[in-house]
Amino acid sequence: MSDPIRFYYRGAVHEVSTASPTQTVLQHLREDLHCTGTKEGCAEGDCGACTVVVGSLVDGQVELKSVNSCIQFTPTLDGKALFTVEDLQQPDGALHPVQQALVECHGSQCGFCTPGFVMSLWGMYLKNDAQPCARKEVDDALSGNLCRCTGYRPILDAAHRMTELPKVEFDRAALARQLEALKRDKLATYSVGERHFHAPRTLDELTALRAARPSALILAGSTDVGLWVTKQMRELDDIIYLGHVDALKTIERDGAMLEIGAGVPLNDAYNALRRHYPEQLSEMQQRFASLPIRNAGTLGGNVANGSPIGDSMPWMIALGSEVVLRGPAGTRTLALEAFYLDYQKKDLRADEFVQAVRVPLPRAGLQFRTYKLAKRFDQDISAVCAAFAFTLDAGVVRDARIAFGGMAATPKRAALAEAALKGRPWSEDNLAIAMEALAQDYKPLSDMRASSEYRMKTAQNLLRRFWFETRVDAPLAANAVNAFACRA
Ligand SMILES: Cc1cc2nc3c(=O)[nH]c(=O)nc-3n(C[C@H](O)[C@H](O)[C@H](O)COP(=O)(O)OP(=O)(O)OC[C@H]3O[C@@H](n4cnc5c(N)ncnc54)[C@H](O)[C@@H]3O)c2cc1C
Ligand code: FES
Ligand code: FES
Repeated sequence: MSDPIRFYYRGAVHEVSTASPTQTVLQHLREDLHCTGTKEGCAEGDCGACTVVVGSLVDGQVELKSVNSCIQFTPTLDGKALFTVEDLQQPDGALHPVQQALVECHGSQCGFCTPGFVMSLWGMYLKNDAQPCARKEVDDALSGNLCRCTGYRPILDAAHRMTELPKVEFDRAALARQLEALKRDKLATYSVGERHFHAPRTLDELTALRAARPSALILAGSTDVGLWVTKQMRELDDIIYLGHVDALKTIERDGAMLEIGAGVPLNDAYNALRRHYPEQLSEMQQRFASLPIRNAGTLGGNVANGSPIGDSMPWMIALGSEVVLRGPAGTRTLALEAFYLDYQKKDLRADEFVQAVRVPLPRAGLQFRTYKLAKRFDQDISAVCAAFAFTLDAGVVRDARIAFGGMAATPKRAALAEAALKGRPWSEDNLAIAMEALAQDYKPLSDMRASSEYRMKTAQNLLRRFWFETRVDAPLAANAVNAFACRA
C-alpha cells in the first residue's frame, strides 16, 4: 500500500500518487502541472531560477522558506505547502508589491531569472513582515539568485521599494490549519513500482527502518543528493527521508556543548552557533552556499556527506566537536575527526545514521578563527577552508587544534603543526616552524579549484593570518589583516 503525497498548493490539497519518488518539484510543476512560471537554469541549486517558497509547521508555527525546486524531490512536499510565482497575483489581478517594485525599478530585462528573484524577495517580505531591512540581509536573501542581463542595482532598489507599496497580508493562521490537517503521526511510505520513499516520524521508526533497510539512501535536505539525480542521473530506488523526524530537529545545550540534531537546517544551526561565536562564524554562515541551500540543507548532511571541501567540518573539528551515531544497539559518540576514515569512507555502520553533532561552547583562553578561500564570495565551494582553535595562557599555547578542508582526502587535523606549537610561546618564530610543519601534514591535490602549490601557500598564510589576529602583543582586527592580505 502506497501513501499518496499530499501538499497544499494553490488553495487546495494536491495529491500525487504516480510521480517517481525522485521526480523534482520543478519537474512536477513544469511537466505535470504545466505551471511554467518557475524556471530551470542549472538544475543544481546554483542559479536560483527555480526558487519556490515552502511552508511547513514547526512547533505549531508556520515557517516559510525559499528553496531550490530543481533539487528537491516531490515526495519531500508531503504535509507542506508549496508557493510559486503564480501564487503572488492578487485576487483582483494586481501584481504583488514584490512584483510591482521590480516593474517600477526596471528590475527585469529578459525575465528568465525574475520568478526566482520574486520568490526570494517574497520570502524576505514575509520574514520581515513587509518592513525594510538592512542591505546585508537583502544581499543574503538574494545570494542564490543570478541575473545575467539586468544587473543587480535595480533589483536591490526593488527590494527596498516593495516595502513602500501598500502591504499585502499573508494569512498564516489559515495555512497553519491547512497544514495541521495534513499532518501524519506515523511512518508513511510512498511507492511507485519498485521505488520507495519512506518518511518516518519518530527516532524509533527511523532506527528500525534503517536496520531493516541498510542499503536504502538516507535523504536529509537533498542539497547533495538532489544533484546525484539531476547531474549524475543516478537511480535511487529506496530512500529514507529524515525531514519529518521532529526529534532530529532540536538544538539543546548540554553542559559545555551545544547538541544540534542532524535534521536541523544549516541556517538555523549556524544562527544558534553564531550566538556563541558571533565573530568567527558569521562570515562562514553567509558564505556557505546561499540562503535557499542553507534553508534546505542540514548540518547533519554536511557532516555525514563528509566532503573534503565541506565547510563545517574544519571548524567543528578544530573546536573538538563530536558526532552522535544511532543504530539498533543504541547510540555511540565519536570525535568528529575519527568519523572520517578515508576519501568518502566513514566510521558509520550500514544500520546507523547520524543523530546529532555536539559542538563545544567557548571556554577561557580560547582563540578560534575559521577562514574560507573560494573564487567568489557568495555561493562557492571552498578551495581551502581553515580553522584554528588554540587555548592560550600567558602567551603560551596550551592546546592547539588545526583543521583544514581542501588539503587532503578528508577534513583533517594538522598533527605536526599542532605538535610544533603545543607548550611553546605563540611567537613569530614558532609560527614559522608550524608553517613549515604544515607542508609535512598535507599533500594537497591540484584540481580546477586550485593548484597544490596555491593550497599549501594559502594554508600556511592563513595560519600566519591567525597569528596576526591573535598574537599576544598587538593583535590586529580581522579587517586590518584582510587589508594586509590584499596588499601582499
Ligand atoms: C549550490 C550548492 C552550493 C553548496 N555550497 C556549499 C558550501 O558552500 N559549503 C559546503 O560545505 N557545502 C556546500 N554544498 C553542499 C551541501 O549543501 C552540503 O553538504 C549540505 O550540508 C548537505 O546537507 P543535506 O541535508 O542537503 O544532505 P543530503 O543531500 O540530503 O545528504 C548528503 C549525504 O549525507 C547523507 N546523510 C544526510 N543526513 C544523514 C544522516 N543524518 N545520517 C546519515 N547519513 C546522512 C546522505 O545519505 C547523503 O549521502 C552546496 C550544495 C549546492 C547544491
Ligand atoms: S535551476 Fe538553477 S538553482 Fe535550480
Ligand atoms: S533579467 Fe535576464 S537573467 Fe536576469
